[in-house]
Amino acid sequence: MLITEKTTYQENGVNITVEPKPHASQFTPRDSLGRPKFYGRRKGRVVRKAKTTLLDAFLPQIKINEHTVFDKQTMFGKPVEGVCLEIGFGDGQHLAGQALNHPELGFIGAEVFQNGVANLLTLITGIREGNRLPEKICLLPERTDNIRVFDDDIRLLFERIPDGFLDKIFVLFPDPWPKKRHAHRRFINPDNLREISRILKKGGILRVATDHKIYKGWTLRQLAAVPDFKWCAKCGADWKHEPSDWVQTKYQQKALREGRRPVFLDFEKI
Ligand SMILES: C[S@@+](CC[C@H](N)C(=O)[O-])C[C@H]1O[C@@H](n2cnc3c(N)ncnc32)[C@H](O)[C@@H]1O
Repeated sequence: MLITEKTTYQENGVNITVEPKPHASQFTPRDSLGRPKFYGRRKGRVVRKAKTTLLDAFLPQIKINEHTVFDKQTMFGKPVEGVCLEIGFGDGQHLAGQALNHPELGFIGAEVFQNGVANLLTLITGIREGNRLPEKICLLPERTDNIRVFDDDIRLLFERIPDGFLDKIFVLFPDPWPKKRHAHRRFINPDNLREISRILKKGGILRVATDHKIYKGWTLRQLAAVPDFKWCAKCGADWKHEPSDWVQTKYQQKALREGRRPVFLDFEKI
């Protein structure tokens, strides 16, 4: 049901008031339920049986749900010193690698594509892809204590994340939507940058990586239009080479195989 005006109704004797979502901007068109419209794939043609089992058995243990409270002391398996968010983690190599390299930090990963979420689970359970699972499997605490997963569109989670909560946000190889008429679908856009700026702490870093010329120019222009961010690069070497804390991603490897050179754009929230 699309709610177009403030409506009050009764459910089990309780008055419930619902309000329409704010007017949709060109960058965040809404579906018939009032949610931001998502243009990518949610599910591949096949989710192997083993991966379905992983999703059923293990995702609930690290999933961000409606009860999750965003608190550095309690939302992970242990208290953490800071929290990073990766938006669109794909197959999860970067998220899992960062979490392993930085046990003192917490990592939230958001991914809509179910097969990608399942792949992250294979990485953090140490299980190789295949149709059969070993009889005994468990989440490896050293790989999961500091990872939490939101298996849906990050834009649905934004409003629950407190102001200045995050130390770093990664948007790595986002879908470039290169056609001009699809430009409004690009994730780096004024609506999402407003939320990213709100949830990132002062001095925090937004890192965008891309192998697409159009997306590089687009990102620099979008960020230049927002006064809350400063591009950290001092010279070409700063954005043409992998940052020191980098972990390679699947899309980066594909770009390199196909002869495209990625760029790594770090912006500081000021
Ligand atoms: C081109 S892939 C890159 C994946 C990964 N970062 C890499 O470098 O291998 C972009 C990913 O972002 C995800 N994505 C796009 N919009 C998203 C959103 N609003 N919330 C969560 N994930 C999103 C897509 O499902 C897709 O898996």
